[in-house]
Amino acid sequence: MTDLADLTLLPETHDELQRFYGEPPSGVRANMIFTPDGAAAFNGRTRAITDPADQMLLAHLRMYADVVLVGSGTVSAENYGPVRLSEEQLAHRERHGYVGLPRLAVVTGRGALPAELRIFTGDGPRPLIVTTTQAASAHPELAELGDVVVAGDATVDMEATLAALRSQGLTRVLCEGGPYLLASLVEADLVDDICVTIAPYLAGSQPTTLQPASLRIAPIRLGLRHLLQRNGLLYLRYSRP
Ligand SMILES: NC(=O)c1ccc[n+]([C@@H]2O[C@H](COP(=O)([O-])OP(=O)(O)OC[C@H]3O[C@@H](n4cnc5c(N)ncnc54)[C@H](OP(=O)(O)O)[C@@H]3O)[C@@H](O)[C@H]2O)c1
Repeated sequence: MTDLADLTLLPETHDELQRFYGEPPSGVRANMIFTPDGAAAFNGRTRAITDPADQMLLAHLRMYADVVLVGSGTVSAENYGPVRLSEEQLAHRERHGYVGLPRLAVVTGRGALPAELRIFTGDGPRPLIVTTTQAASAHPELAELGDVVVAGDATVDMEATLAALRSQGLTRVLCEGGPYLLASLVEADLVDDICVTIAPYLAGSQPTTLQPASLRIAPIRLGLRHLLQRNGLLYLRYSRP
């Protein structure tokens, strides 16, 4: 049996965290938290299952991103605001040739995003709104809320999304969920790296937006890069082999 003390602690300093997370893929890295019984939230939010160290890691991972990609369900549920980074993180970005703060990109198929959402009312870089040709024309007001990125005609195509982001120089994508968006990226086999936190709670059934069943013929095998722990939470990183 492995003694818990044998597991490396999730570091708390910027420099040490870089050892574990400092090579973001040129592509998609996802960051998600789940309970051992498979819940991605409790009562519609992650607040009850996350902790300060996990939140610190979330902020750290943003430091390596050109763009933070989230679904509209997450933006509403988690009251997403503009991305904020510490002076140290901003200095890291400057040293490593990143341009300013990461952009925030919200994916919506329907395009019915309320103007009151905090990502639209806060300061910071103008958000990107990834949607379809049809939704963009049905919701012209989206162009006032953010920079509209069209990626598909009737449905949002994930390959087209990444290609559109790349064409704007946004190659290092951090997907922060939720489960629907993550599943769409997995379906298109576009996840290169995933940082998963296992939270020490049983949450029971915690439904999120219903996702279509996968059409993949086999699951995608990943390689374990590390397993860290802190305060009973486990931090795993898997990458494409
Ligand atoms: N455990 C975690 O790490 C984690 C992370 C994030 C969120 N969450 C939790 O997850 C819950 C929200 O889950 P969710 O699955 O609804 O989140 P989501 O993926 O953030 O949002 C789903 C919505 O995003 C849009 N969307 C995402 N992918 C799309 C695609 N491929 N094509 C078209 N539209 C797409 C659609 O928006 P429209 O309806 O606008 O068309 C869809 O209804 C919340 O409770 C939140 O707290 C957990």
